[in-house]
Amino acid sequence: MSLTNPPSSSGSLSRTRVGNLKRSLQATVDDAIESRKPGGYTSKVRVRDRYNIVGFISSGTYGRVYKAVGKNGKKGEFAIKKFKPDKEGETIQYTGLSQSAIREMALCTELSHANVVQLEEIILEDKCIFMVFEYTEHDLLQIIHHHTQPQRHAIPAPMVRSIMFQLLNGLLYLHTNWVLHRDLKPANILVTSSGAIRIGDLGLARLFYKPLNSLFSGDKVVVTIWYRAPELLMGSRHYTPAVDMWAIGCIFAELLSLRPIFKGEEAKMDSKKTVPFQRNQMMKIVEILGLPRKESWPGLASMPEYSQLQSLVLHRQPSHFHRGSNLEGWYQSCLKNGGYSSTSSAGTPGADGFDLLSRMLEYDPSKRMTAEQALEHPYFTNGGPISGNCFEGIEGKYPHRRVTQDDNDIRTGSLPGTKRSGLPDDSLMRASKRLKE
Ligand SMILES: Nc1ncnc2c1ncn2[C@@H]1O[C@H](COP(=O)(O)OP(=O)(O)O)[C@@H](O)[C@H]1O
Ligand SMILES: [Mg+2]
Repeated sequence: MSLTNPPSSSGSLSRTRVGNLKRSLQATVDDAIESRKPGGYTSKVRVRDRYNIVGFISSGTYGRVYKAVGKNGKKGEFAIKKFKPDKEGETIQYTGLSQSAIREMALCTELSHANVVQLEEIILEDKCIFMVFEYTEHDLLQIIHHHTQPQRHAIPAPMVRSIMFQLLNGLLYLHTNWVLHRDLKPANILVTSSGAIRIGDLGLARLFYKPLNSLFSGDKVVVTIWYRAPELLMGSRHYTPAVDMWAIGCIFAELLSLRPIFKGEEAKMDSKKTVPFQRNQMMKIVEILGLPRKESWPGLASMPEYSQLQSLVLHRQPSHFHRGSNLEGWYQSCLKNGGYSSTSSAGTPGADGFDLLSRMLEYDPSKRMTAEQALEHPYFTNGGPISGNCFEGIEGKYPHRRVTQDDNDIRTGSLPGTKRSGLPDDSLMRASKRLKE
C-alpha cells in the first residue's frame, strides 16, 4: 500500500453524527446509572466466554491491559482494557464510571479510521468495563527504546516519514471530527506488526465542538508534561487542536533524536491543589526555541503565567538564553549524531524535515501548523511515495510486546497494581494529572 496523497476528510462525522456522539455519551451515562439499581443489570456476554487471556500487558491509570485471543470461532488477537469500578475493596463499593472510561467508550465507538485504534466491542461484566481493541504488537515508545539498544542507531528516515504521515492522517481525522486527543506521546501511539500507525488511548480525548462548558475546568494539567504545549504552560484557558500539533512536533523530534526534546521535571501540585507554573519545563523549551516574544506571539502578554515567565528571565543570566531560536542547531546536530545524511543508508529528513518541525514547534498556537497543512508540506509531497507500512524495507525485526503471566486473572477484584511489563512510561504518574471535570 502506498500513501501519497493527503486524505480527504471523507468518512468524517457530520454535525448530526457529532450530535449522536453526544447522545451516545449520555446513553452510556444513563446505562451506568441504570446498572447501579439493584438487579438492574445482568451481563449477557462474559469476557471469558469470548476470549482466552494470554497474559498481562500493562497497568495504567485506569486499569489494566491484557492480551487475549478470540475463541469459539472468533479469530485474531486483542488487547482488553479493563476499567475497574471507581472504588473497590473487600466489599466492592461501586461509585460509578470514571469520566475517562465514559469518554473513551463514547469516542471509540463512533470513530473509525485506519490510523486510530479500532475498538472491537465493549463488555460490561461484574461492574467492570472491558474495552476490547485490536491488538498491536508495538508502540512508538518501544520502537524508540529499541533504537537505543545496545547502542543508539537512528530510525531510518523513510520509516520516520511514514510514521509521521500516518500519525498526521489519524490526527486530521480526529480534528476534522472535533476530537482533541490531548495526550499524544510515544506510549500512546500504537504500531501494528504490519507497520500501520494507530493513535491510541483516547482516555483524555474530548469533543471541542461547541462545548457546553469552557474546555478549561479549574485543572490546567492536561497533556503529559514533556509534550505539553507552551500555551498550556502559560495557563491558557482556551486550548485548541494546536496542543496536539505541539505534541506531534515533540514526537517527530524524539523519533529523530531518540530522546524527548523537552525533558522537563514536573513541579507537583501543592497541598491546596493549585497547579504551579511549570518553570523547569518552560526552561527546557526556552533553551532550544529562545524566549517567546510578544511581537511574534501577540497573545503572550495577557496569559495568566506571563509574570512567571518574566521572573524566569530575571532570575537567569541573559546569556543563559539564546536570543533567538536554536532549533536549527539542535536539528543539525541531531542529524549528525544520528548519522542521517543523503549518502547514508538511513537517508535524511533533510531541510524539509527541519522546516516542518519548526512549524509544528511554533510558540503561537494560532500560527502553529495544522494537521491538514502538515500533510501538504514538502517533507511529504517531495521525495517519492510514502509507504503505509512504516517497516517497509527495514531489515531486522522489532521485539514483540512483552506479555507476562504475573496477572492473568482478568476478573481479579484487587486494586490495580503497579507492576508493568514492557517499557517504563510516565502514565503511572498520571492519576493526579487526569483532568477532573
Ligand atoms: N490495542 C493495544 N494493543 C496492544 N497493547 C496495547 C493496546 N492498547 C494499549 N496497549 C498497551 O497498554 C498501555 C496502556 O494503554 P492505554 O490505552 O495507553 O491506557 P492508559 O490510560 O493506562 O495509559 C499502552 O501504553 C500500550 O503499551
Ligand atoms: Mg496511555
